Amino acid sequence: MGFIFIFFVLSIGTIFGQDVPTLVPASPFDPNSDAARLFDAMNGLGTDENKIISVLCYRTASQRDVITTTYNNLHGSLAKDLQSELTGSFQTLSIMLTHGMIKFLSIELHETMARPGTDEPSLTEIIMSRSNRELNEIETFFNNYYGHTLVSEIESDTSGPYRQLLIQMAEGRRDETMLVNVTAVQIDVVDLYEGGPAIDGTDETLYINIFSLRNFVHLNKVSILYEATYGMSLSTVVTTEFAIDMGNALVSILQYSADKALYFSSRFHTTIAGAGTADRDLMRLTVSRCETDLGNIKMAYQYIYGVSLSNAVSDDTSGSFRTALLALID
Ligand SMILES: *[C@@H]1O[C@H](CO)[C@@H](O)[C@H](O)[C@H]1NC(C)=O
Repeated sequence: MGFIFIFFVLSIGTIFGQDVPTLVPASPFDPNSDAARLFDAMNGLGTDENKIISVLCYRTASQRDVITTTYNNLHGSLAKDLQSELTGSFQTLSIMLTHGMIKFLSIELHETMARPGTDEPSLTEIIMSRSNRELNEIETFFNNYYGHTLVSEIESDTSGPYRQLLIQMAEGRRDETMLVNVTAVQIDVVDLYEGGPAIDGTDETLYINIFSLRNFVHLNKVSILYEATYGMSLSTVVTTEFAIDMGNALVSILQYSADKALYFSSRFHTTIAGAGTADRDLMRLTVSRCETDLGNIKMAYQYIYGVSLSNAVSDDTSGSFRTALLALID
């Protein structure tokens, strides 16, 4: 009994418990004075970028939403003013911060597909990591904003089993209970083997259903039991059973299921490592995780890469863009 209890707590802890955000609601919060501060920062000659940062990077998405509405009612359009006053990545980030969470995620989804060749890892990341409720709200917002559905955009930008996986994940029907039924885990383990390595070809529908509908704690248990039973990792199996897009997506889901902070720290690392920095990905990761689990991601990053995320970001960015990102990260 004691063992089972600890096992349960540990699983929940690594997946969806004890999230440590780096951005928390400002309190007290006065949207009128924040809107006035932003107007001040941009009014007249020159722009006080630090003043802009002092508002936009220290308020949560729902607070920024209220500030934006307040500003727009008094002065026209905050996004347009930021657009004309700022440049480069700092401009992009500032405008991003004027959007509520659902609008922000919808635009980022569209962006990843608008890129030449589609940015599959980012597409998988966004869809996989949002709740059913958020996915439903995104679907509605997306359709109103772009005049076509998210699913239709996925359909025209991806193909094969990867397309079907994304569409089913975007429908937001995943079990969110976080409960594990040992019998159901055993059944999935056998089914994945029987529908994969045991046969010529692959039962694609089976894999798509399991990976898009099961809760993440369950999936992690499936991965562990699979390796214990068949002596090969499920990650290796999915990369040999499927083409690269689908294989990578399934591996991402397994990594996310095993340790969400570790998964995101590797996503951060990818945007920072190598020549140049994928600014847009870095912004998206920072803005989308800072109110949730960026504290956990920072710990994982330090542990895996031996350098703090703040230092890594600081080394790869400059100017107000750097100041703004670090304000959100620290
Ligand atoms: C566990 O899963 C099995 C197989 O799907 C099912 O028959 C059983 O009813 C489930 N048990 C519970 C408590 O939900």
